[in-house]
Amino acid sequence: MLASEKDQLRHEVTTIAKRYEFHRSGLMPALQHVQRAYHHISPEAMQEVADIFQIHPAEVHGVVSFYSFLSTGRKGRFIIRLCQTISCEMADKKAVAVQLENDLGIKFGETTPDGMFTLEYTNCLGMCDQGPAMLVNDEVYTKVTPEAVADIIETYVKKFGAHVTHEGGEK
Ligand code: FES
Repeated sequence: MLASEKDQLRHEVTTIAKRYEFHRSGLMPALQHVQRAYHHISPEAMQEVADIFQIHPAEVHGVVSFYSFLSTGRKGRFIIRLCQTISCEMADKKAVAVQLENDLGIKFGETTPDGMFTLEYTNCLGMCDQGPAMLVNDEVYTKVTPEAVADIIETYVKKFGAHVTHEGGEK
């Protein structure tokens, strides 16, 4: 992490921590911010957060490892999470999974080379009667069909004016 990035991160996390008077109740909002802004929480970022909240880095690491929405590895700008629990499984989530992998050119657990999309499985999203269900960041999609996958991906590609080829690279 560059010194300027570190300063920026310190400033942002300190601003959040101040809102919580540096109480550990501000830890989760701070980590969510780091995840959103930097697409992962690096060891350096965990150390900064620990210093600002004056807690042990192991405690920060424990929180980051516990929540699947926080990650230590760099992820895409858009994280696609497909439900893998039983109702969605029975609603043919597999066909949607295959389509996602084909359209993005990556497997589940991977990120496109341009850093745009990460594919992950998740557990029940509470939309069991409307499966297959998936999330793209905070946006919920239900009754997803393989045919709908391309349009959903295109929505996010257009949103940021980038183009992703079927090989997962930028055009
Ligand atoms: S089983 Fe997929 S949303 Fe509940």
